[in-house]
Amino acid sequence: MNDPTPTGNPAIEAMSPDPSSGMLPGDAVAIDVRDLNHSFKNHQALHQVNFQVMPRSLHGFVGPNGAGKTTALKLICTLLQPQSGSVQVFGKDVLKDTKAVRQQIGFMPDHFSMYRQMTVTEYLDFFAAAYGLAVADRRTVIGDVLALTDMDGRADSPINGLSRGMQQRVGLARVLINDPDLLLLDEPASGLDPRARIELMEILRALRQMGKTIFISSHILSELAELCDSVTIIDRGRVKYTGRMRRLLEQNTESSMYRLTIAEPQERFEERLLGLDEVDSVTRVEETLEYRVTCSSQITSANVLLAAVLNLEVPLESFQKDLRHLNEAFMDLTEQGVR
Ligand SMILES: Nc1ncnc2c1ncn2[C@@H]1O[C@H](COP(=O)(O)OP(=O)(O)O)[C@@H](O)[C@H]1O
Ligand SMILES: [Mg+2]
Repeated sequence: MNDPTPTGNPAIEAMSPDPSSGMLPGDAVAIDVRDLNHSFKNHQALHQVNFQVMPRSLHGFVGPNGAGKTTALKLICTLLQPQSGSVQVFGKDVLKDTKAVRQQIGFMPDHFSMYRQMTVTEYLDFFAAAYGLAVADRRTVIGDVLALTDMDGRADSPINGLSRGMQQRVGLARVLINDPDLLLLDEPASGLDPRARIELMEILRALRQMGKTIFISSHILSELAELCDSVTIIDRGRVKYTGRMRRLLEQNTESSMYRLTIAEPQERFEERLLGLDEVDSVTRVEETLEYRVTCSSQITSANVLLAAVLNLEVPLESFQKDLRHLNEAFMDLTEQGVR
């Protein structure tokens, strides 16, 4: 790892804007946190926290419970004031330019109270009115945010009859009402079943495509590994890693592991996979058509392996990097194991 930040922690990769990050000339960094400290009475929740989030990126904020994620999110969204250090959102200081910052952000807290007896439309209309939108505009905006969150068909449903996944989407629709450039989402995927989680990730990808910057927290690294471009890992108030997700994944894989599934059984398939130059070992997941493949060299990229597998002319159904090792990396970084 290189480029230690001013914290002096060698585990930190400073994240400087680069041409591939999607920065346009004149763009301000979406979130710029410098030397941030925050204490509650005798307890220091954040220690010299530094990280940056590029505009139009999906940035994960990961740490175990109590790490300081919610505290940092509240400082960024102006619900708490920095005691020392600074936070800027699109170049505006949260203390000096609070109002301008608020206009550009949408914050979804981890627990938010819903007015459960209301319908989805009544709930959204209440917040649209709070933002000062005229009645006629409110109708259009509510239609737009329901479409964005894939909730078109639920406009008249009472909120208390919706699943948790649907309620999370109503929460997301709510924070989209003022068309914010930056979404701050505090553990939105916790408590969701796998399908609801995948659907939520799809919506977040679509919002990023529209040009929004998304800052999303979680206590599970693997949950965000495929979604996020970049990530900050925090433990007991200290940043342990900040930088590209890809680099974190590469640093923490001794060999490249992939999972692939074929559509129908193939004769001698394991043997043929093992015959590929790139492949070191193959394990078939019991009685399924899923195979775990380890490559001999860390530099074997997904493209190279995929091309080799396609050459075998088998009906390939899925192909992905195996991210199970990530939990171990996370444990190492956060010292959870010794707590
Ligand atoms: N209002 C508060 N008063 C006192 N301590 C707090 C308060 N909010 C958070 N803390 C403490 O600060 C630390 C970080 O909390 P938090 O930011 O909620 O972590 P996370 O969101 O990562 O679980 C925890 O030790 C927590 O107990
Ligand atoms: Mg929290």
